Amino acid sequence: MAVRAITQDRYGWGAVQLAEVPDPVPGTGEVLIRVKAAAVNPYDWHYLEGTPGIARLGMVGNLRGPKPPVRGVDVSGVVEAVGPEATRFVPGDEVFGFAYAGSFADLTVAPEKHLAVKPPALSHEEAGALPMAGVTALNGLRDAAGLQAGQRIAITGAGGGIGHLAVQLAKWLGAHVTAVCSARSADLVRDLGADEVVDYATTDFTSTDARYDVVFSNGGQYSLRALARAVRPGGLVLLNDGSKTGFAGALGDMVLGKILGPRLAVRVARFDGVANADDLALLAGLVADGTVRVEVSRTYALEEAVEAVRQVAGRGHARGKIVVVP
Ligand SMILES: NC(=O)c1ccc[n+]([C@@H]2O[C@H](COP(=O)([O-])OP(=O)(O)OC[C@H]3O[C@@H](n4cnc5c(N)ncnc54)[C@H](OP(=O)(O)O)[C@@H]3O)[C@@H](O)[C@H]2O)c1
Repeated sequence: MAVRAITQDRYGWGAVQLAEVPDPVPGTGEVLIRVKAAAVNPYDWHYLEGTPGIARLGMVGNLRGPKPPVRGVDVSGVVEAVGPEATRFVPGDEVFGFAYAGSFADLTVAPEKHLAVKPPALSHEEAGALPMAGVTALNGLRDAAGLQAGQRIAITGAGGGIGHLAVQLAKWLGAHVTAVCSARSADLVRDLGADEVVDYATTDFTSTDARYDVVFSNGGQYSLRALARAVRPGGLVLLNDGSKTGFAGALGDMVLGKILGPRLAVRVARFDGVANADDLALLAGLVADGTVRVEVSRTYALEEAVEAVRQVAGRGHARGKIVVVP
């Protein structure tokens, strides 16, 4: 049997195509999922283009073309079969999570430890939009920043996939939130609970008198010096903006942070969101009980998945999440 999938055998936009591929087979501890929705992330752009160049050595895993060849990671769908030693789900279960094997497809496989039950209160589009952006926002704020009630945080890229969830999770953790975004997203982030909104087109938030306990940098390609200016002495610059290209991309900032952080009297950290079932379940619960809203601004058909990825490529100006529906 064969299914449709967005695949590529080398890097670059011209190499991506909708093709028929063999049905994926769930391995040990994995389940086979009929894909109902799959959000796009800047991660898909990095794999598609093989950028930044240094990532081809590690993250992308292959110098000439990405492995696996099917794009897409976020998934929400229905379990169709389970592999050996997979015990958490049975066929018919609705699940969502991380399918690194590639989710822009009719069928995909994923380790069951990277999945959680999709509550009925969430649509597949909402659940499929949550994994990477939601877990990254949560891991950044709760774990890397240790954000405490009463602290003041500024979030750049606040209208985007991670940003709009981070605004709500920071409020849930009790922080005072300044959202930095375009005028287009101002109403959205205000609705989601931001205490203050800064339009980056008219105001450079790093050049005002405001000083934050934490600056969570998700977008805007701000320099480390500029971000540090906006943080109180001893406060934290949390680096997460991967939109810088060039060979080293955002990794350059991390190296610079190690050197400059002490001189600038701030802490500088970078982190990775980690696929895990517990955080997925926690996030789904927050959406189900109305604490967090997932904003799906646009859906694309599978045939249009490349166009969907374009929306988050480079600097990206996504509003909330963009979802591919096979
Ligand atoms: N650490 C990890 O494990 C991890 C995981 C996933 C993603 N990431 C990184 O996290 C970043 C954000 O991901 P995402 O999914 O949220 O991307 P996204 O959905 O494309 O959002 C990026 C946002 O940045 C905004 N933006 C652009 N210029 C800006 C500026 N000057 N100031 C403030 N905001 C600006 C964009 O819209 P407007 O211009 O309309 O405001 C957009 O909403 C990416 O760079 C990605 O590589 C890291």
